[in-house]
Amino acid sequence: MNPAPESQEAAPAAPREIPKGAPVLEIRELRKSLGGKEVLKGVNLTVRQGEALVVIGGSGCGKSVLLKHILGLFKPDSGSIHIEGEDITQMHERDLFGIRQRFGMLFQGAALFDSMTVADNVSFALDEHSKKSPAEKLEIVRKKLAIVGLPGVENKYPAELSGGMKKRVALARAIAADPHFLLYDEPTTGLDPIMSDVINELIVKLKTSLRVTSIIVTHDMASARKVADRMAMLDEGVIIYHDTPENTFASDNDIVRRFVEGKASMEQMKEIWGESAGKAQESENTRRRRRPPPPAQ
Ligand SMILES: Nc1ncnc2c1ncn2[C@@H]1O[C@H](COP(=O)(O)OP(=O)(O)OP(=O)(O)O)[C@@H](O)[C@H]1O
Ligand SMILES: [Mg+2]
Repeated sequence: MNPAPESQEAAPAAPREIPKGAPVLEIRELRKSLGGKEVLKGVNLTVRQGEALVVIGGSGCGKSVLLKHILGLFKPDSGSIHIEGEDITQMHERDLFGIRQRFGMLFQGAALFDSMTVADNVSFALDEHSKKSPAEKLEIVRKKLAIVGLPGVENKYPAELSGGMKKRVALARAIAADPHFLLYDEPTTGLDPIMSDVINELIVKLKTSLRVTSIIVTHDMASARKVADRMAMLDEGVIIYHDTPENTFASDNDIVRRFVEGKASMEQMKEIWGESAGKAQESENTRRRRRPPPPAQ
């Protein structure tokens, strides 16, 4: 592994040099305990160059923890993570810096600095190790803002932007340093359906125009349907399922089906309704079946 690059010009090889479809992220038997609880219990996952992998799974099952391992922010208890052929779990912080430069991350919430302008927020990723002049940086900022469909907002502050615009500025920041990978943690949470779709379109656009490899954690099934080449489900600390979106939405795996259809399990129903849960569910189903169809238009 080379030492940390000194400038953006010395950034790692462009993703184009890796053939489309080659494995670029390989996670093997990843285990991690946090706060006395084993969160990841042997995760295995392969992601290929240029694909968009959507990771689904219940709240608190470890999706964000998994992303933090991929970024090298958490060290696993055991297992390996190979990124473009290099095992990051054995790396020193200095070498991890070079790996992190290959990633753009859209955090759960936009995570912009409120006291900084949009331009300063977007060029933040360029600042620390870039020898670019302020004029060159501004040019990059303008280009990235245009890509996310927000030209001319560089002098605004985050407080002046809507939630959807903030997400797009955060996305411009994520692509500022020309990453190989884009990681998205709940990119559409808190947005209305139309703004969610704008973000979905951007995820697809960035995948095709920048040829990045994307990993998208989401609970939003409309978003998954639109952006995924492949879907994987994390449950009880392991990847229990992965397949194309078409097969995932038609899956007869009980856990997958309940998740994509948004249905509570009988155990969860019992927590709410007690032993009458079965009856409550049955009468609700009957009521829905009896509801007359809407009049023809
Ligand atoms: N730094 C930490 N210290 C201790 N426990 C943690 C830490 N980070 C996460 N956890 C625990 O790990 C588990 C998985 O958390 P994580 O944030 O990855 O869930 P998630 O799948 O992303 O959930 P959500 O869909 O709600 O975002 C949770 O039980 C959480 O409390
Ligand atoms: Mg999370």
